[in-house]
Amino acid sequence: MFSDELLVRLRSARRLAVFTGAGVSQESGIPTFRDALTGLWQNYDASSLATPEAFAQQPDLVWGWYEWRRAKVLACQPNPAHYAIAKLASHVAHCNVITQNVDDLHERAGSRHVVHLHGSLHAARCSVCGLGFEYPPGIPDEPEGGRHISPPACVSCGAQVRPGVVWFGESLPQQNWDQAQAVTEQCDVFFSIGTSSVVYPAAQLPMLAASGGAYVVQINPQATDLDGLADCNLRGKAGAILPALVQAVWAGR
Ligand code: OAD
Repeated sequence: MFSDELLVRLRSARRLAVFTGAGVSQESGIPTFRDALTGLWQNYDASSLATPEAFAQQPDLVWGWYEWRRAKVLACQPNPAHYAIAKLASHVAHCNVITQNVDDLHERAGSRHVVHLHGSLHAARCSVCGLGFEYPPGIPDEPEGGRHISPPACVSCGAQVRPGVVWFGESLPQQNWDQAQAVTEQCDVFFSIGTSSVVYPAAQLPMLAASGGAYVVQINPQATDLDGLADCNLRGKAGAILPALVQAVWAGR
């Protein structure tokens, strides 16, 4: 199932970079961004809701969408892909996860070095003064079809609180982006897992890895723009492929 070259590259790797997207959380029950939206959002696509303009025009719709996603994430569990990625760190000296996901499933599975490029569902802040917002404890009880919810007001300045994610048209957090590029440039093997590889600048990372001489491995059930650049394309679900790969490379260790 796996090529000898892949097994040899992984056994000798000292530095891994694992770049992940929504496909890694799909098997935990979190819809990807390319899945059709349903319920209240059926006439929208994710890229039209994840913008500053959408929040300015329809704050109740956008806040409701993020609350629905946050409730889903709080109620779900990491899947075998998250656990296999966390396990990589016990076999390779340096293992860094770079994620576009705004959930915390890598951390809950035990990954310790996780760089978030697109922010977090759990770190809302004031849209004006930037003060962090404290969510009430527990899992919000959101109906499956979603609902409109007014964003809360900032306790300091009274302005609207906004989701703590990076929207289309906004810059990535500079420190995280610098860190992502640094670990990508230094790695021996670069994984791109469960991402459609279309959203920039994050989608530059596999190219940066390849130009630095890393062996690039993609895991995805679908073809993507990365197929031509990757040294190895593993076609299938991350939750099935990754545990099998860890077992094949480090069986008994
Ligand atoms: P996408 O929703 O664009 O792509 C998900 C990818 O995961 C697709 O290529 C699927 O084929 C693949 N996939 C689905 N199920 C999988 C599974 N079980 N195992 C492995 N792969 C699977 O998600 P991202 O590439 O993460 O940005 O999207 C990138 C960014 O675009 C997101 O962070 C978000 C989005 O709009 C912002 O909100 C700024």
